[in-house]
Amino acid sequence: MPIACPMHRFDDPAISAPRTHDLSDLLDIGPSTFADRYGSAPIAVRHHLVDHPLLTVERLAELADELPAEKTEHNLGNISTVVADAEVPSLEVSAGEVARTIETSQSWLILRNIELVPRYKALLDACLDEVEPIAGRKEGPMGGREGFVFLSAPNSITPSHFDPEHNFLLQIRGTKTMNVGEFQDEAMEHRELERYYGGGHSNMPSEPRAIVPYPLEPGDGVYVPPHAPHFVQNGPAVSVSLSITWRTPVTERRALAYQANARLRRMRLTPKPPGTSPTADRVKEAAVLTNRALNRRIKRVRGAAN
Ligand SMILES: [Fe+2]
Repeated sequence: MPIACPMHRFDDPAISAPRTHDLSDLLDIGPSTFADRYGSAPIAVRHHLVDHPLLTVERLAELADELPAEKTEHNLGNISTVVADAEVPSLEVSAGEVARTIETSQSWLILRNIELVPRYKALLDACLDEVEPIAGRKEGPMGGREGFVFLSAPNSITPSHFDPEHNFLLQIRGTKTMNVGEFQDEAMEHRELERYYGGGHSNMPSEPRAIVPYPLEPGDGVYVPPHAPHFVQNGPAVSVSLSITWRTPVTERRALAYQANARLRRMRLTPKPPGTSPTADRVKEAAVLTNRALNRRIKRVRGAAN
């Protein structure tokens, strides 16, 4: 299967690795490379969704109208590659309107949890079902499957941030460059993740280091592992991308450990970073889960009393 990712053709093992077969009708990934890099490093992929009828701008505008308002977000896109908080300006119009006028709106639009609409859930499952046998051997079942659509005005920027899930970013229309890097150092990684899991925004205060650009044209995609810092630069035309994400027992345990650390830090303690002690991580995981169960019980009791 030909690969249209020229900057990575020779220097990225994900591209130069021999391809034995397609994983599915929709995604084209080198299975052995995916197994090696899954959970730890980005991988360039190809896909076959460019002409899918559910992914035209018109059908996505209908999806924007159909999704609950809280599942859509749009912001002006002519901003810097670093925006340290969530304060990005936006237009005072509906998400569907932003989609329909994306050529001129200077905005980017996110449609979240598209799996809430059954026809889009079927599309997500079709993509992930044949990846799961390989992914599952390393990190367990692919739970929490969620889909996001990004419509972006020409030249808009998604600033430096990280995401908690495994992610396939698949380019459908236009071009963009996904720039994937690393935290400046381990201390920053733990600090940022603890801040995020303690309730903060995922935008970062600085650009990642050691950035590898993944230029994406329609039919290209990139697998981005959880917490890999990245920013996105859109090309000179309207861009449509589909992001398919999932979580695993490993990502969930890591999240619980960071949540516990954030709470301990608020109690003026100095917890060890996740991964330092498996025993400490298990205790923290149990403490957060117990606390959540307790809070749910208190809410139920309060609800019954009112
Ligand atoms: Fe992201």
